[in-house]
Parts: sequence; structure tokens; C-alpha cells
Amino acid sequence: MDDMTDGPDTTAVRTALWRGLHGLIDDRPLVVDDPLGVLIAGVDDDWRSRPDMDPQRTSTNRASIVARARATEDLVAGSGVSQYVVLGAGLDTFAQRQAGAVTVFEVDAPATSAWKSARLSELGLRTDSLRLAPVDFEAGQSWLDAVVTAGLDPDLPTVVSMLGVTMYLTREAISETLRAAASLAPGSVTVFSYSRPIEMAPAEIQPILHVAAEGARASGHPWLSLLAPAEAVTLARDAGFVDAELVTSTDLHDRYFADRTDGLSPAGGEDLVIATVGPRGGA
Ligand SMILES: C[S@@+](CC[C@H](N)C(=O)[O-])C[C@H]1O[C@@H](n2cnc3c(N)ncnc32)[C@H](O)[C@@H]1O
Repeated sequence: MDDMTDGPDTTAVRTALWRGLHGLIDDRPLVVDDPLGVLIAGVDDDWRSRPDMDPQRTSTNRASIVARARATEDLVAGSGVSQYVVLGAGLDTFAQRQAGAVTVFEVDAPATSAWKSARLSELGLRTDSLRLAPVDFEAGQSWLDAVVTAGLDPDLPTVVSMLGVTMYLTREAISETLRAAASLAPGSVTVFSYSRPIEMAPAEIQPILHVAAEGARASGHPWLSLLAPAEAVTLARDAGFVDAELVTSTDLHDRYFADRTDGLSPAGGEDLVIATVGPRGGA
């Protein structure tokens, strides 16, 4: 869903700022080193004093956003694919930070996509390996048709990500989006994140989540789909994926944060589902 203005989706700006803030305030090693999103956002110099950038109060969010980015980028690197589709890309900067071996197809709502296209050109950050495809997932448009038109080869294995997006979509749009991803070439992998219902979060962060939910509603980005882990996996299987692996926020903690000296942790934040396309004609 686009904002009412011509600017970028405000939730996408926030996650880009959290990735940038990670590099400015957290201990080394960084989970993801992404200073470019802040540059692309073009926010005022005092952005770090925004309430949603509070280093302590929103640390789980910040950790969760860098954890999901890192897990996904590791998946892309480890899979050896040459095509990567980023659904609800926002201010994602993988295309600028990678060496160029992977063609990146960024799909987002038309206003955010147009804004980003102009902003990348303005900053000289366009790369040959980046294609932008404007699509509104709630409008019955096919993101798959859009990326194929933009040059994706549907016969090659592809990694697809959808990070921080499902909560803003209806269940119907999530299912439709996943069905298209499940129709990609065998061996393709889709990773998506989801947020659990507030009552499933650790008791100590539930009050923060209630405030965040109200803020999301007030800003025109209501949380439409909070998913229990079993429901997230079922959505993937029902979409046609042969396998759907749950990677919880605790798993992400153990994988990327266990040895940190600053206590930063995504535990209690978003989980991931990693879903694999099986052989053609298979189960
Ligand atoms: C929280 S941001 C996440 C951005 C990015 N994936 C990240 O991790 O930083 C959510 C993104 O989903 C996009 N989005 C939300 N609803 C959408 C829809 N109906 N169609 C297309 N994109 C949508 C927004 O424009 C925004 O870029």
C-alpha cells in the first residue's frame, strides 16, 4: 500500500534507518553493514532522535530487521542463483552492495517504486543488475508477470524474499503472492518473514507492540495479518511449496547474535519461513 504522498512507504524508510542505525551504534561485528539505505532515504539530519529510533526501546526491532536481511543475503549467496526477487523491497540495498553476479528484481507498490527509481538515479546508485517492477499485491496484479517482463528467466532457479511485508497484506494477497513464487523453477527458494499475534510475544514486549500496532493503524499501515508459526508454514505449503522450514527469531539469535558483546538480539521479533519449490509435477 502506498502512502498518500508521493514519497516512499514510511515503513520502508523506518527499516532502512534501523539497518543504518545498527552500523552507527551497535558493537562490531555488524550483522549487516548497510549505510546506503539512510542515504537513499534522504531524511533530516536529526533522524536518530525519532522515537522509533530509540536505541534501547526498539532494539528488538533493529536486531530483527538486520537478522532477516542477513539470513536472506546468506541464502542468496549460498544458493548460487543468478536471479533474486525482492518483494516489497522498500529501500533494500542488496543490489548496490553485492558484486553484481546476481540480477535483482525489486517489486514494490507503484509510488514507492517510482520514488526509489528517481532517488537511485539522483544519487548515481543505479546498477545494471537492478530491475524495478512496480506492483500492488492487493490489486490483483501479477508480480511474476512484471518481473518476467523486466527480464527474469522463469526456467532458472530463483531466490525470492518478502521481508517485513506479510503483516501489511491480507491473507488472500499473501497466498496469491506465495502461489506465484511456488510456480517458479524447481529448486527456487522463497523466504518470508511474519510477525506473531501480540499475545504470542514475550510478556515484556507486549505493551510496546500494542503501542506500535496503534501507531501503524494511525499512520495508515495497519497490521492486517499477524500469523502463528503453524499458520505461516501452512500458507506456504498450501501455496504449493514442497517444503517449508520455520526459522524462529530464537534460531536467528543463535545463528547470528549468540556471541555479541552488546546484548543485541532479535528474539521475540519476526520469524522466517524458508520454502522450497519441488520438482515439476512432483508433490
Ligand atoms: C516494512 S517495509 C519492508 C521493506 C524491506 N523489505 C525491508 O526489509 O526493509 C514494507 C514494504 O512492503 C511494501 N508493500 C506493502 N504493501 C504492499 C502492497 N500491497 N503491494 C506492494 N508492496 C507493498 C511497502 O511499500 C514497503 O516497501
